[in-house]
Amino acid sequence: MDIKPLSRHNLSVNSLIFKAIIKLLIKLPTKNRKIYRLISNCKQMIETNDKIFIFDTTLRDGEQVPGCQLNTVEKIEVAKALEELGVDVIEAGFPVSSPGDFNSVVDISKAVTWPVICALTRAVENDIKVAAEALKYAKHKRIHTGIGTSDYHIKYKFNSTREDILERAVACVKFAKSFVEDVQFYAEDAGRTDNEYLARVVEAVIKAGATVVNIPDTTGYCLPWEFGEKIRYLMENVKGIDKITIACHCHNDLGMATANTMAALRNGARQAEVTINGIGERAGNTSLEEVVMTCRSHKELHLESNINTTHLYGISRMVSSLMNMPVQPNKAIVGRNAFAHSSGIHQDGVLKNRESYEIIDPKEVGVDENSILLTARSGRAALKHRLHVLGIDMDKDALDKAYESFLKLADRKKEINDDDIMMLAGQHHASKRRIKLAFLQVTSGVGIHSVASVGLDIAGEKFEACSTGNGPVDAAINAIKQIIHRKMLLKEFLIQAINKGSNDVGKVHMTVEYEGNSYYGFSANTDIVAASAEAFIDAINKFVR
Ligand code: KIV
Ligand code: ZN
Repeated sequence: MDIKPLSRHNLSVNSLIFKAIIKLLIKLPTKNRKIYRLISNCKQMIETNDKIFIFDTTLRDGEQVPGCQLNTVEKIEVAKALEELGVDVIEAGFPVSSPGDFNSVVDISKAVTWPVICALTRAVENDIKVAAEALKYAKHKRIHTGIGTSDYHIKYKFNSTREDILERAVACVKFAKSFVEDVQFYAEDAGRTDNEYLARVVEAVIKAGATVVNIPDTTGYCLPWEFGEKIRYLMENVKGIDKITIACHCHNDLGMATANTMAALRNGARQAEVTINGIGERAGNTSLEEVVMTCRSHKELHLESNINTTHLYGISRMVSSLMNMPVQPNKAIVGRNAFAHSSGIHQDGVLKNRESYEIIDPKEVGVDENSILLTARSGRAALKHRLHVLGIDMDKDALDKAYESFLKLADRKKEINDDDIMMLAGQHHASKRRIKLAFLQVTSGVGIHSVASVGLDIAGEKFEACSTGNGPVDAAINAIKQIIHRKMLLKEFLIQAINKGSNDVGKVHMTVEYEGNSYYGFSANTDIVAASAEAFIDAINKFVR
């Protein structure tokens, strides 16, 4: 089915003052036809505004992923980078969920000036009160409250009825409205909610004062045309919908989050809820960079955002590094291979004319083609620049240390790529951790038991242990466990090579379970036993404070 876009006009006029003047002028009687025409054209432009709002939820929905938790300092770093990127709204957390989340919303509110700071709540009065308190210092604030509207949620989660949920939806918006002007309502699992009932809920919350209504495909179930039709149905059947913004919030369980978001925007949604690198629970959320670059590449859609696309690559790497969440090499827009042409035919074509095989100029998203690889001949300034492009700024001492490690690594490997550099930056972050690997010695081979001696530095104090194992990694982990007496279970353990060759760097990803929670650990080293021990210690650092 061909669904035509609801709005075709291109408009970059966003000034509230301009809109207010036009709305005022249109009310004044005038006999001059030219003036009348001019004013009504302006009014039409305002009403068919094609600016899309980018609502980033990396620090809320993204941060919910086990092992991706950030401390407040790291969250502020990401929030400031999001502000520089040009997002319109930052969802900073779910304040009632923990004191850490509450404080992060407070601190982000203080640190950031331009974007709206949004705090999530359930349709519960105390959640809303706490969110309002956390937003106290925000220059522009929004409460995001809501409730599940699908029959699955109504019946199994709330053991309730459609009528009762509708009343609770209205009540939570009214209550939030008593604290802030800007209230966003979410109809959780809207993707699987009956359209007629959803329209009733949306109309009721608009009447109660919602300024934005979010239509999430919580389970990532919808098909693009189905989700587009849902938005269109609401646009055509809900009274007052033209006065508010409709948001779409998609999950990627079937790999369709970006497609569903685009379908929603084409049918009238004007706020896209996204995360950097598409991180988020399960298969993740819609990725910011994919939606922004799709809108930018398809000018005929007339969908414009405020995003400064040259920051996309840097922020992608920053989030990946801070959250220890690698970006898949073939990830659209920001993956390591997104602009790497290996076939001779492609290389030849790109050299003759980039557009033969590339739809995006790498520079547009902040990838500097000339500096992808560094070698032992590269100077400190080149490393500093590359780190900056990757979103990491180091002071002089840290840079000196990173450069020393860089030269050692460059001696072993001919070419140093972005992953290697992120690893060096990771070592720098690791040097700030409470528990550090002081030394590791392993004996292993065929026909003998592996034995490992490990030294740990815990907040300045030295500890040593020795253990055997069924291999060198097992022996090293057992020795660490002797020092850190906790009931920890190694749930996942993955070793990946970055490039090829026996001199390669091994990346280790681990999940360690402790007291019912999972903690993610990461390290990279040319010695894979050392990388494994470091990844284990990285995870432990997240629960041993
Ligand atoms: O996926 C979802 O439904 C959500 C809501 C809380 C907005 O994240
Ligand atoms: Zn979500």
